[in-house]
Amino acid sequence: LDKQVRQNNQEKGNFINYKKMSENLAIVRGRLNRPLTYAEKILYSHLDDPHGQEIERGVSYLKLRPDRVACQDATAQMAILQFMSAGMPSVANPTTVHCDHLIEAQVGGAKDLTRAIDINKEVYDFLATSCAKYNIGFWKPGSGIIHQILLENYAFPGGLLIGTDSHTPNAGGLGMCAIGVGGADAVDVMANLPWELKAPKVIGVKLTGEMSGWTSPKDIILKVAGILTVKGPGTESISATGMGTICNMGAEIGATTSLFPFNDRMYEYLAATKRSEIGDFARSYAKELREDEGAEYDEVIELNLSELEPHINGPFTPDLATPISKFSEAVKANNWPEELKVGLIGSCTNSSYEDMSRAASIARDALDHGIKAKALFTVTPGSEQIRATIERDGQLQTLEEFGGVVLANACGPCIGQWDRKDVKKGEANSIISSYNRNFTGRNDANPATHSFVTSPDLVVAMTIAGSLHFNPLTDKLKDSEGNEFLLSAPTGAGLPSRGYDPGQDTYQAPPEKRDAVSVAVSPTSDRLQLLEPFKAWDGKDALDIPILIKTKGKTTTDHISMAGPWLKYRGHLDNISNNMLIGAINADNGEANKIKNFTTGEYDAVPATARDYKKKGIPWVVVGDWNYGEGSSREHAALEPRHLGGLAIITRSFARIHETNLKKQGMLPLTFIDPEDYEKIPFDAKVDLMCTELAVGKPMTLKVHPKSGEAFEVKLAHTFNAPQVEWFKNGSALNTMAKAHA
Ligand code: F3S
Repeated sequence: LDKQVRQNNQEKGNFINYKKMSENLAIVRGRLNRPLTYAEKILYSHLDDPHGQEIERGVSYLKLRPDRVACQDATAQMAILQFMSAGMPSVANPTTVHCDHLIEAQVGGAKDLTRAIDINKEVYDFLATSCAKYNIGFWKPGSGIIHQILLENYAFPGGLLIGTDSHTPNAGGLGMCAIGVGGADAVDVMANLPWELKAPKVIGVKLTGEMSGWTSPKDIILKVAGILTVKGPGTESISATGMGTICNMGAEIGATTSLFPFNDRMYEYLAATKRSEIGDFARSYAKELREDEGAEYDEVIELNLSELEPHINGPFTPDLATPISKFSEAVKANNWPEELKVGLIGSCTNSSYEDMSRAASIARDALDHGIKAKALFTVTPGSEQIRATIERDGQLQTLEEFGGVVLANACGPCIGQWDRKDVKKGEANSIISSYNRNFTGRNDANPATHSFVTSPDLVVAMTIAGSLHFNPLTDKLKDSEGNEFLLSAPTGAGLPSRGYDPGQDTYQAPPEKRDAVSVAVSPTSDRLQLLEPFKAWDGKDALDIPILIKTKGKTTTDHISMAGPWLKYRGHLDNISNNMLIGAINADNGEANKIKNFTTGEYDAVPATARDYKKKGIPWVVVGDWNYGEGSSREHAALEPRHLGGLAIITRSFARIHETNLKKQGMLPLTFIDPEDYEKIPFDAKVDLMCTELAVGKPMTLKVHPKSGEAFEVKLAHTFNAPQVEWFKNGSALNTMAKAHA
C-alpha cells in the first residue's frame, strides 16, 4: 500500500497517501471503537491530530489536512492576494485555479471568450503570473468549469479537497470528499494552517432498483433532500459523471458534501481519463473506500430508482420539486408563464459526455422528424475536453443543427454572465436549464424570469415543444408533415468509445524556476490591489476610542460587505471597503449607512467615517446584536473593518465562521457576557478596551464612558485559543505564518 501513485497527470511530486490514511484510521478506530461511514473515514483519516482530536458528529470542530485546494477565478483573487501577504515562496499544499466565472455569454463560444479575455485581462494576467510564482496550476479561460476539470483531472477516491465554490462536492462522483469553502479557508490550507470543519452529521441514502427511460441521475437529487453518503446496489447503474451530478447538487439542500463509495464505474472513468494507476491503487485499498459494515447514520433515506419519475424544480428555488406528471397542472395552478422562452444545457452539474450524448439523441430524434427547437437553446460544454470530444463524435453538430448556440466552456448564464436579449427586464417569462441553482435573477438579472431546473433530457424535450405543459413521456409532438409522434427515450454512452479528445491545451503548469516570475498588478488598477500585511498589535490597551456604529437587528455578511456590483472589486480591498457595513442598521437613527462622526459632529456614510478615523489615527469598535456576521463565509466582511482601522467587534453573539474570519485578520471578536449590556451602551459613548487582558479562557473588560453620566464597566467573553491569541498579537493569522517561515 505504500507505492507511489501520483495524484494526477499534471503534478510530478504529489502522491496519494493511502498508507498514511490507513494508519490514521487505525488510530481513530482504536479510539472510537465503532464502524465508520465512508464520509467519516475520509475526514478522520485527514485529521491533523488523530490521537488527540475530539470527535463527536455534529459537535466537535475537526482540524483537518486536505489533500488539495481549488479556486475559481472570482474567489481566487483575494485568496491569492492574502496568501501573498504571508510572504511564503510557494503554496504548502497542491492548489489549482480555474477561469470559468468571468466569461459572459453573448453570441457564442469563440467570440465570447475573446471578449472576456480582453475585458478581464488584468485579472487573468494577475492570476496567471501569481499562479506561476507560487506553484499553482492555472487553468486558462476556455479550459472549462472548475468542477468538471477537477473530475477529469484531480479528484480521486478517498481524497479530501476544499474548493472556493459551493458546488465543489461534485468531485464526490469519484469518491472524493470535496467541500465548498470561503477564500479564508483556502488561504489557510495554502499557507499550511490546519483547516477547521464541524464534524458533520451523516445521512445515508440507499439506492435500489435501476433507472430507465427519461429518468436520469439529476432526478435523484431533484427528489432527495439530504444526501451525504450514498450506498446500495443502485449505484452501479449510475456513471461516475452522473454521480458527480448528484453530489454537485447536494449543495442545494444544505449538505456539507455528498459522496459515493469507490466502485467500478469510478474505475472506468479513471481509466478513460488516463488514470488507471489510481484506479488500481484504489482497488488495492478498496476496503477503506467504502463504509464499514454496520456503520451508523444520523438518518437513512431509501430511494427506488425503478420508481423514480423525472422532476422539474422551481421557479426561484431549487428545492421546489414537481414530478413531470404533475408539472403541467402546477404551471396552471401557479400561473407560471406557459411559453418556454429559452432552454439551457450544461453547467458544472450537467455537462458530461453522457449528458451531451443523451441531449443530442433527443435532438436527433426531433431532427429526424423534421423539427427543431422552438425555444432558444444554448449549450455550455463543461470543459474543452468535453467540447472537443463531442465535436469529434458529432453530438455538437447535432445540437447546433437543432438550433443550439454553443457557448464558451464556462459558467456563463449559470452565474448571470448572460447578455440576454430576447425579453425585456421585468417581463415575466419562463426558462428551463440543467443547472443547479435558480434563485431570483441569478441567470439574467430579471426578477420576473421564472427559472426551472431539471435534467438536460427534459430541457431538450421542452425546448422542442416550447411550452411548459409538455410531458415527453406522454405527450405527442407533430412532425414536419403534421403526423403525431412520441419522442424516444434518450440514450447515450457514459464514456466516449474512442476515448476523450483533449482539445486545445488550456493548462499552464507552474515553471520549475519561479524566483524570477513577477506578479502582474498594475498600481492604477481599480480591480486588483496588492495587500500590505496588517500592523502588529502595539501591546497597549485602547483608551477613549469611539463606537463607529452600533448596529441593530440582523447584521449579515451581506450587510457588512454587500455583493452584487461590488463583486467586481473583490480583488481590491481598498475599493471594496467602500461597501463596509453600508447595509447595517444604525441603532441610533434606524437608518442604513448614516452615522455620526464624533470628531466633526456630522452624519456621514459608514466607510467615509471609518476612513476619517483611520486618517486621524483613531481605532474604533463596532457594537452588534445577535448572530452578527451570519450568511456567507465571505472573508471581505472581516478584511474591510480591519483595513479601515477597526479593532474589535463586540456583539451579543457571532456566526461562527465570521467570528473565526475576524480573528484571522487580527481583529477582536468579543461578546457581552451579559447580553443585556448591549442595551446599556449608548451609541455615542467612548470606550476603553483592555486588550492587555486577552488570554485564553479569561474575560476582558470594556470601560464605557457615556457622554453624560457615570462611566461603567462591562465584561466581555471571547473564544480565542492560544494560537489565535498569537494571530491578534502579530496582526493576523498570515503574519503569524509568515513569522514562522521567516
Ligand atoms: Fe459555475 Fe454555475 Fe457551476 S456558476 S461552478 S456552472 S453552479
